[in-house]
Amino acid sequence: MLKAVENLPVVDFATKAYRTQPFPILADYARQWRVARSTRGVEIFDYDLCRASIVDSRLGTGHPKLMEVLGLPDGSALDYKRKSISFYNRGETRRKLRRPIVRLLGEGASEEFRQDIRRIVSQAIDAVAIDRPVDLIAEFCDRIPSSLYCKWVNAPESDWKFVAKTSHVVQQVHTRDSSRTDDIVEGFEKLLSYIDERIESRRGDLGDDLISDLIRETHAGNLTHDEVRTWLVKLAEANTDNSSHQIAIAVIELASRPDVWDRLAKDPSLAPAAIREVMRFHPRSISTSREALVDMDMAGYAVPAGTPVFANFGAAHWNSRRYPKPEWFNIDRPVRPLHLNFGGGVFSCVGRFVVTIEVEETVAMLAKEFPGLRLEKANFDHSPMFTSVTDLIATLKPN
Ligand code: HEM
Repeated sequence: MLKAVENLPVVDFATKAYRTQPFPILADYARQWRVARSTRGVEIFDYDLCRASIVDSRLGTGHPKLMEVLGLPDGSALDYKRKSISFYNRGETRRKLRRPIVRLLGEGASEEFRQDIRRIVSQAIDAVAIDRPVDLIAEFCDRIPSSLYCKWVNAPESDWKFVAKTSHVVQQVHTRDSSRTDDIVEGFEKLLSYIDERIESRRGDLGDDLISDLIRETHAGNLTHDEVRTWLVKLAEANTDNSSHQIAIAVIELASRPDVWDRLAKDPSLAPAAIREVMRFHPRSISTSREALVDMDMAGYAVPAGTPVFANFGAAHWNSRRYPKPEWFNIDRPVRPLHLNFGGGVFSCVGRFVVTIEVEETVAMLAKEFPGLRLEKANFDHSPMFTSVTDLIATLKPN
């Protein structure tokens, strides 16, 4: 006999303890319950159930409900959202929309961005003062993904601040806080106009960049003009905010451990293993959203169609049955089990390869150039959805 979801244990993510140190709390929840409920919906804490749920065809996208929670008014922002990949459940339209992007940002294609990324990281290092405390979020973590985006859309690199700022604004959709809705709408409107200009200026003069490749997809009949526009805004939305926070998390977690930083400085080939462990131990994505498409059973509970469901990666990553001593930051862990920072299946993050390269290159270059990097101020805030770095001040070359 299935139990009603109202009988699930209730968890609270609004406490100060959770906001500062969520992972031991989530690990503790996961020891007690495979699923629970919070004010936003059903929470899955079990590693295996999280993995199964993100590819479960009975669970669809949680984005339409998110827009309702925010009260996004009719207009160009909501129109864009409705047309974007995030609104589509499994099926031919989702497959058709993802196919070109998965190819253009796939593992091999992303490798081809590595040289550009190295150049961007090196320019960012050249631009910051190295002998006094600097704000690495503003000057560094934001700059790297947004400069790459500028290259993708054939924009002057000086646009990076606009790209970074708008991404931070529109990603506030995930706060589920309707007091942010006006700013979010304005952010999307600015991005839509920006992308229209970029497409217009590139349409008759195609070159070797992502925007040109996407326009070529319209010639091949794989995407419409409107779909290209929507994709470019979606990439701007998802790119800088997530990437910047994940770069900052990596710098803090690695540079605050002198033995690990020293190993990285001496052997940059350790960067991929180090970044994997950062993404397990302190992921940017603490959860991803789904919605039950049908009445379904989950760990002995009857979950009605329409219920928001969250796969809680933070809890899964600190599960001692899957990761022995999860509280131990250990860059020598085996590759498997895989971390879930980028979700999975047909909803998986399309930027996962490129951002992983960005984090690897940033950390490898910083450790090599600045083995004595000193963190002056580093603070986090955690929501049920994300880890955010609120302060990252460092002196790159302390005397
Ligand atoms: C470390 C940085 C990032 C993290 C942690 C991250 C995480 C995620 C997660 C968890 C999802 C949802 C997956 C699911 O529900 O199964 C997602 C989706 C997505 N991400 Fe990322 N992401 C990052 C960077 C990026 C970048 C750099 C881009 C673009 C260049 C990007 C583009 C997208 C898109 C377009 C989707 C929606 C995919 C779909 O619905 O088919 N992300 N990301």
